[in-house]
Amino acid sequence: MRSLRTTWALLVALALVLAACGGDGGTTTTAGGAAPEDSAPADTAAEETTPATEAPDDGGEAEADGDLVIGVSWNNYNEERWARWDEPAIRAAIEEAGGTYISTDAGSSAEQQLADVENLISQGADAIIILAQDGTAILPAVESALSQGIPVVAYDRLIENPGALYVTFDNVGVGRLMAEVIYEMVPTGNYVIIKGNQADANADFLREGFEQVIGEAVANGDITIVGETYTDNWDPALAQTEMEQYLTQANNEVDAVLSQNDGMASGVVAALEAQGLAGQVPVSGQDADLAALNRVALGTQAVSVWKDARELGRAAGEAAVALAQGTPLEEIPGTVIFDSPGGNEMVSILLEPVAITRDNLNLVVEAEWITVDQLCQGVQPGTVEVCG
Ligand code: BGC
Repeated sequence: MRSLRTTWALLVALALVLAACGGDGGTTTTAGGAAPEDSAPADTAAEETTPATEAPDDGGEAEADGDLVIGVSWNNYNEERWARWDEPAIRAAIEEAGGTYISTDAGSSAEQQLADVENLISQGADAIIILAQDGTAILPAVESALSQGIPVVAYDRLIENPGALYVTFDNVGVGRLMAEVIYEMVPTGNYVIIKGNQADANADFLREGFEQVIGEAVANGDITIVGETYTDNWDPALAQTEMEQYLTQANNEVDAVLSQNDGMASGVVAALEAQGLAGQVPVSGQDADLAALNRVALGTQAVSVWKDARELGRAAGEAAVALAQGTPLEEIPGTVIFDSPGGNEMVSILLEPVAITRDNLNLVVEAEWITVDQLCQGVQPGTVEVCG
């Protein structure tokens, strides 16, 4: 069900049949056709593999949108956002365009994800959206899809192949927002930095954002980093262990924690709680997980950077449909060029994150991201405006 590719192939096949007029223009062969938009010239388009006997019956323009299949390769569903916000938004965008959503879950295995992408291809995916477990390990699967003319969307996490569309938030900006809130509260003292998965480029982007805010204070000695580590798989339990160790090493003299997401912040806060320090040591996070927003209301987490994943999912779903229909990358609405660390000019959609603190919790309520009941559980009356 590769509508545009099939249409092109069928048109070309028909042209070949007409031109050859009974000649031996049967099955043309090649591996790795070009992307649809590149396949217009007859010589490349002629490389599509299509039996000439399949005469087109839809006249080219009548794109069989209903036949579009978009495959999504998830690395896992560990964070709340993926199943709660991202997936439904992607699915809705695809289905509203008349397409079909199919998906795979790699269960945190980079190797499995390679097989998953091939599986989506063999199921007839016309475009593939990938949330990569490992941005480097996934490259062969991306090359494979692109070489078969199947567009790829690098979802949320960078994949260094400029043939893919990169749809994400400004991740350096996310790091900057976290650090700005924490730095304002703790301009001097001992910091712990809990980073996410090393194979996810976002961990370094966020760290870059931290650096932009606290770099100078670290250089002049106002801030001392007493512990810094990546965390395999962004694992909250591991983050808790890391935090426990840093607290022990520093004799509990930790003044602030830059944790790169809310899941890990839950582990960090648990470690602080065990030492009677929760609420005294500001902690950051991102994703606006429901429990994290509740912690912000309770005062045990200072900030959660909110990335409205409903918008990201919609943008990716719509872009995948458009790409599958043959729209060139740079003609996807709202794209900019992102210069990647690997030296690629990635055509990108970059959405803006928002820092949520105790002062603007009304935003997530108004956006119907969370109910007042969920947000305000256990909150002392009179301490948070939106909780009453
Ligand atoms: C995403 C975060 C998420 C983390 C763990 C990152 O790539 O940007 O929103 O919390 O992965 O899934």
